[in-house]
Amino acid sequence: MNFQLSEDHIAIRDAARDFAQNEIASSAIERDLTGEFPYEIVKKLGELGFMGMMVDPRWGGSGLDAVSYVLAMEEVSKVDASCAVVMSVNNSLVCWGLETYGNDEQKDRILKPLASGQKLGAYCLSEPGVGSDATQQATTAKRDGNNWIIDGAKNWITNGTTADYYIVFAQSDPAKKHKGISAFVLEKGMPGFEIGKKEDKLGIRSSDTCSLSFTGVCVPDANRLGDEGTGFKLAMESLNGGRIGIAAQALGIASGAYERAVKYSFERHAFGKPINQLQAIQFKLADMCVKIDAARLLILRAARLKDNHESYIKEAAMAKLYASTIAMEVANQAIQIHGGYGYVREYIVERSLRDAKITEIYEGTSEIQHIVIARQLLKEYELTT
Ligand code: CAA
Repeated sequence: MNFQLSEDHIAIRDAARDFAQNEIASSAIERDLTGEFPYEIVKKLGELGFMGMMVDPRWGGSGLDAVSYVLAMEEVSKVDASCAVVMSVNNSLVCWGLETYGNDEQKDRILKPLASGQKLGAYCLSEPGVGSDATQQATTAKRDGNNWIIDGAKNWITNGTTADYYIVFAQSDPAKKHKGISAFVLEKGMPGFEIGKKEDKLGIRSSDTCSLSFTGVCVPDANRLGDEGTGFKLAMESLNGGRIGIAAQALGIASGAYERAVKYSFERHAFGKPINQLQAIQFKLADMCVKIDAARLLILRAARLKDNHESYIKEAAMAKLYASTIAMEVANQAIQIHGGYGYVREYIVERSLRDAKITEIYEGTSEIQHIVIARQLLKEYELTT
C-alpha cells in the first residue's frame, strides 16, 4: 500500500495546521477551564470546508478523501481535541450517514447546511441503559400516518446542546430486534424534544455532551433516514468511518504531547545538560516516536482502504484501538518528561492525558474494538480456508 501523501494532501494538512496553531491554540486552555463551546472556531472550520470534508460538493461538502480528513483531524487534535470531536462527529457520523442513506430531498434540505458548516449535527445511539450493547435500543418509533412518534432518551451526545439536526436511532419493529431499528433526523425545537444539561467532563471539556429526551416527538416520515429497519446497519457503518476519525484524534493528542515533550527536553537542563542527553529521557522519546508512527500507519491504511472502497471494518477498529491506547501512554510519558511542570495546565500535556482517555471509550470502547477485530479476523480466516 502506498503511504505517500500527494501535494493536495500536504496542502490540506498544512492549512489545517496553520488554522489550528493560529486560531485554535490560543483559546484552548481557557476553554478547557470554562467548558465554553468553540462557536467561532466551528464556524471558521465550516468556512474552510472542514465540516463536510468527504461530502460531494453538490451537497455542500469539500469532495475530499478520507486521507485528507485524517490529516486535518490530527492537526486540529494536536492543539485542541474538543474542537476535533465536534468536527469528527459532524463529518463521519452525521454527514456520512446522510450522504449514504439519504434521498436527494434530504441531502438538499439537511446535508447541505451541515456539510457546509452552516448547521451542526449530532449522532444519537447511546442511551441511559444502552452503550456497548447497541442492538438493545429502548427508544421507540411508532408509525402514525405520515409521521413517527418517538419516545425515549439518549445519553452522551456530542454536540448535544449545540446541534441543529440529530440522527436518532429508535426501535420501530421490536419483533425484528436489531433489524427493526430505524433512523430518523430530529430537529431542535420539535415539541417533546428536550435537551439535558451539559456534562462536566474530565477531558474534551469545551465540546458539549448531554442527554436528550423524547416525549411523543412527532417526526415526519420525510425525516426517516434510509428504509425502515436499516437503522442499525447505518449506525454500525457510520461508526466504522467514525472510528478512523477518532483514531486520528487520538493520534493528534499523542503527537501534540510528543512534540511538546521533545521541545521541553531541549529547554530543560539537569545534571549539567539538556535532559534529552539523558538516556532515561531518550528511551522515553524513542518509544513515543515509534508508537506514534505505528498509529499513523494504521490510520492511513484504514483511510486508504475506505477511499479505495475496500473493506475497512477491522482496520478502522485496529487503528482506533491502537491509537487510543498509545495516546494515553504517550500523554502520560510527556507529563513524566515535564516533571512537575507537566502537572500544571500551562504546559498543556496534562490536558492531553485527560483528553486522551475518552478516545478509549467513545465510538466503541477498546473492549468493543477487540470484539470487532476478532469477529472480522475469524470471518476472514473462514473465507480463506
Ligand atoms: N460494521 C458493519 N456491520 C456491523 C458491525 C460493523 N462494525 N458490527 C456489527 N455489525 C452488524 C453485524 O454484521 C450484524 O448484521 P446482521 O444481523 O445483518 O448479520 C448486526 O450488526 C448485529 O451484529 P452482531 O450480531 O454482531 O451483534 P452483537 O450485539 O453481538 O454486537 C456490537 C454488536 C458490535 C457490539 C455493536 O453493538 C457495537 O458496535 N457496539 C458499540 C456501539 C458504539 O460504538 N457506540 C458508540 C456510541 S456513539 C458515540 O460515541 C458518538 C459520539 O457522540 C462521539
